[in-house]
Amino acid sequence: MARAETKYVCQQCGTAHPKWSGKCDACGAWNTLAEEAAGPVPKGLGGARGKLAFQGLDAAHERLVRRLTGIAEFDRVCGGGLVPGSTLLVGGDPGIGKSTLLLQIAAALAQGREGGALSCAYISGEESLDQVRLRAERLGVKAAPVMLAAATSIRDIAGALDRADPPDFVVVDSIQTMYLDQLDSAPGTVGQVRASAQELIRLAKRRGFTVMLVGHVTKDGLIAGPRVLEHMVDAVLYFEGERGHQFRILRAVKNRYGPTDEIGVFEMTDAGLREVPNPSALFLGDRQAPSSGSAVFAGIEGTRPMLVEVQALVAASSYGTPRRAVVGWDGNRLAMVLAVLEARCGVEFGARDIYLNIAGGLRIAEPAADLAVAAALVSALTGAPAAADTVVFGEIGLSGEVRAVGQTDARLKEAAKLGFSAAILPPRRGRATEAGLALKELAHVRELVALFEDAAPAPSPRVLRGAR
Ligand code: TYD
Ligand code: MG
Repeated sequence: MARAETKYVCQQCGTAHPKWSGKCDACGAWNTLAEEAAGPVPKGLGGARGKLAFQGLDAAHERLVRRLTGIAEFDRVCGGGLVPGSTLLVGGDPGIGKSTLLLQIAAALAQGREGGALSCAYISGEESLDQVRLRAERLGVKAAPVMLAAATSIRDIAGALDRADPPDFVVVDSIQTMYLDQLDSAPGTVGQVRASAQELIRLAKRRGFTVMLVGHVTKDGLIAGPRVLEHMVDAVLYFEGERGHQFRILRAVKNRYGPTDEIGVFEMTDAGLREVPNPSALFLGDRQAPSSGSAVFAGIEGTRPMLVEVQALVAASSYGTPRRAVVGWDGNRLAMVLAVLEARCGVEFGARDIYLNIAGGLRIAEPAADLAVAAALVSALTGAPAAADTVVFGEIGLSGEVRAVGQTDARLKEAAKLGFSAAILPPRRGRATEAGLALKELAHVRELVALFEDAAPAPSPRVLRGAR
């Protein structure tokens, strides 16, 4: 009898190899190949005649009726509610609050906080039913009619869901604990995760319910197991936050039914996650009296303006190569802003260590933060505090020019709402609505440096030599 064929599948990227090796040729990861049974080799199609009926784009279709949970921060991140038949993947570090979030969502849907109540099922592969009940008690949702089950076998789960009246909403916590008994590999391997997810996605589409899968994240921040999982589902949401902070941010990184730059902000309390409808106030809440090295950035996250504090520290270095440490922003972008300040404005950071931090644990990707970062850096270097009532935004080009960014009005309005009275911003092209702020339009970063040079405590540090 022929020996059963096996193949070696990279647990990181899903590439199959005929032989074991220490390194995956495709993604270069070490020690990620695991043995799996090779499926039957598909026979050639042999000129088969399939049937495929094409349709026009304008053919009649069912309107998507989205289901709101009533948790506004969540509803916005998924693009205005859950779409029946869709699958969402929620990724995040262990202990960040994924199970808590999903139980709260299931309870909110089951209680019908927004419109009619839905039937919801919560399938836990990690915790016992008692543990889930204990959590529900803590969250104050014990009375919500959520159907609970502890299961890890996809065969059992599919058997329970594949019926004419399935639940409207199903949580599977987590996909890494699920297994299909047709496969020999252990739960959590690429083959099992992919096959289990595929089965659930197919079922959700056929029966028209919404599935939310929990996915663990590896130490490099990817959803553990296959990247392919991210391609299979309709939406990928990351739940993130700093361990020391109580803020949690839900971020859509892929969404077939909505925008992907949207974030939802929550706070972890002793009674579960609480929505934070006004994150700016929260992120600026701990701000101290004006000190050097701090600037307030008026940013946009998704559709929403958000003010955050950018902090910089410039310190004498005790190493041959000075340190550049960044939390919450892009290190390459910091290098660029530093280079522009040095080359175009004559600001000398020299061999000093530079630390940059976005306060509150938020991660910013907008180039519009350049000018605020520059302000924090120059302020840290000169020891001159930035005006406490001023917000800063604008992109910096390589020649030092300050470039316009989108949604100026929304940024200014948010700043005015939070009691700021001035803004440093790029030159405005058209007439924008006045938000009641004193506007300082800068065409070049040199002008920003000059603002700090004037305000620097005497005697003015030599570092700004030639800034003008
Ligand atoms: P959990 O949802 O179990 O995280 P995950 O499923 O992502 O692993 O959250 C666990 C953490 O949240 C744990 O450290 C305790 C904390 N927590 C609270 O602070 N308040 C609460 O009401 C709950 C339920 C959990
Ligand atoms: Mg959990």
